[in-house]
Amino acid sequence: MAKIIVVGSSSIDLVVTSSKRPGAGETVLGESFKTVPGGKGANQAVAAARLGAEVTMIGRVGDDHFAEEILNNFKLNGVSIDYVEPVTHMESGTAHIVLAEGDNSIVVIKAANNEVTPAYIDQSMNAFHGAADMVMIQQEIPEETVTHVSRVCNKLGIPLLLNPAPARPLESEVIENAAYITPNEHEAKILFSDLTVSEALRKYPNKLFVTEGSKGVRYFDGMHEVLVPSYKVEAVDTTGAGDTFNAAFAVALAEGKPIFESVRFANRAASLSVTKFGAQGGMPTREEVEAQL
Ligand code: RIB
Repeated sequence: MAKIIVVGSSSIDLVVTSSKRPGAGETVLGESFKTVPGGKGANQAVAAARLGAEVTMIGRVGDDHFAEEILNNFKLNGVSIDYVEPVTHMESGTAHIVLAEGDNSIVVIKAANNEVTPAYIDQSMNAFHGAADMVMIQQEIPEETVTHVSRVCNKLGIPLLLNPAPARPLESEVIENAAYITPNEHEAKILFSDLTVSEALRKYPNKLFVTEGSKGVRYFDGMHEVLVPSYKVEAVDTTGAGDTFNAAFAVALAEGKPIFESVRFANRAASLSVTKFGAQGGMPTREEVEAQL
């Protein structure tokens, strides 16, 4: 069983559905409002656990009723929360999502996720000494924590999968320390602003994987640029598809699957995830993915 550590955000998603996305200064009448578990870190932890990995989450929650929901959800999905500590006098992270016109728009309030600091990582070092096969990290936590975790992984020889979302420019040290980097097209442009996507892929063979939504995932295998096509499905909600891709990719790689096969497995998992409402609503189990492959 692959052992995965996820360092990242845990939030509650406040989701409204509307047939029309409001423009600036505009008010529209929507159809529904729901609260569901989210946060890129938590989503990736839950997705990896559903796919059969042993997952430890390193994160923070606030001092509010959302914290209880977040922790219960981790427990329900078999994610270890030994390193998810509540922060007092602060709210849990929230994501404010509008689902409209076939896509989402999201505003994230990091709140307690800002307390996933380098010092908190040092406090959680025992998790890293438990023979992890892979560490996953995203960017809804402080930038210095991403740098710090990349150094810890480098020192301990644990492969780091960096999902650079939301996008911000990365220090070259972090790029060097990461084993796998998985931006979408928009994020790739911010990370490698002076390169085309093809140039960036060639610069980082078998390391940079650019997700291109319904087109698939592109990488350079050392000889050729490869596009692993995505699976066509009827999408209900694309929120969390990227997180499912990352988790499934990490699980497959941690199990020793070859890269092409790992991307295919991850594409399949991501395609299933969009068929239900909510970031985690459609995240598949291992059996569900394998039945489709
Ligand atoms: O990647 C999807 C996630 O991004 C949502 O669950 C929301 O929490 C935002 O952070």
